[in-house]
Amino acid sequence: MSLKAVIRGCGMYLPEKIVSNSNEDLSKTIDTSDEWIRERTGIHERRVAAEGEYTSDLAVRAAKAALQSASLQASDIDLVIIATTTPDLTFPSTAAIVQAKLGVEQGAAFDIQAVCTGFIYALSTAEKFLICGQHKRALVIGAETFSRILDWSDRSTCVLFGDGAGAFVLEAQAEEQAENRGVIGSYLRCDGRMVDLLYVDGGVSSSQTTGHVRMQGNKVFREAVNRISQAMEHVMEEAGISVKDVDWFVPHQANERIIQGVVKKLDLRSEQVISTIAKQGNTSAASIPLAYCAGVADGRIKQGDLVLLEAMGGGLTWGAALLRA
Ligand code: ACO
Repeated sequence: MSLKAVIRGCGMYLPEKIVSNSNEDLSKTIDTSDEWIRERTGIHERRVAAEGEYTSDLAVRAAKAALQSASLQASDIDLVIIATTTPDLTFPSTAAIVQAKLGVEQGAAFDIQAVCTGFIYALSTAEKFLICGQHKRALVIGAETFSRILDWSDRSTCVLFGDGAGAFVLEAQAEEQAENRGVIGSYLRCDGRMVDLLYVDGGVSSSQTTGHVRMQGNKVFREAVNRISQAMEHVMEEAGISVKDVDWFVPHQANERIIQGVVKKLDLRSEQVISTIAKQGNTSAASIPLAYCAGVADGRIKQGDLVLLEAMGGGLTWGAALLRA
């Protein structure tokens, strides 16, 4: 029997605290301006987790919302995969912590680390586990408290990122039952020779510290549009789908200029883009499910729509995925 990994539901959570670009917030502590940040990135504000609020807490809130939208219980889940760069602890995985907080008592749980591309890696991994029949229902979560690894005195990085979590419930369904819905394909890439462009300057084995994000933003920017576009073209070609068939484009929210560059290169329309960057900033692995949920919540993404996802992040890693909602 041939199986498909169908998205049964999705959910999201954003912390309450808003940090804006205005004089009262960022421009008071670093040499920047609302105008610079808006023009270069499209970001107006971002959310920051409260003291004592961990990545697992954000993930649990998003997962509960996703379960509710799927009309499922924790006991229906037998796989928890979390894409995160900001785990609660060095070990165990944040997925293990979330599994316990949700009350999931069966199956497997693990984290995936591919920085901003993490959700594409996690979705692709979950799909493989489901279509081979090993697991039945997966929670695939992108969750980050990136605010904790920012150097808040470094204006070239701290203005870009935010905290949040988004989750999908994926279910293995027989092809006849799925009616063409589900993950159609994905394409994952990494080129570790570009570690220096984007990394955290600390770690368990090297410094025994957590470290802070360091990025040569303009160099990453130059790599972004071509690599992302190639990944999207690859995933569409493999699936025999033309860009004209795509209903919605849900990109990783790193920079509005990168998103628009990809839109132009692939001949998409701006109205097809689900963009959350203005109010959320770059939430790393959480940004794709957060944007997808926003599109579902406001009625843009409907059952049966063809949706194209993409991301690029530290590693460098990049990739794309295609699904029917
Ligand atoms: N406010 C004011 N000025 C600033 C700020 C700021 N917040 N940050 C940098 N500048 C200054 C720089 O110091 C520089 O000044 P100089 O000319 O006097 O040296 C000038 O602005 C231009 O700097 P650039 O880095 O060239 O600016 P750019 O137009 O490239 O924009 C940005 C920077 C927004 C970071 C952009 O390069 C970008 O978005 N890059 C891609 C980021 C990305 O996609 N990352 C991958 C995902 S993240 C992850 O995986 C964790």
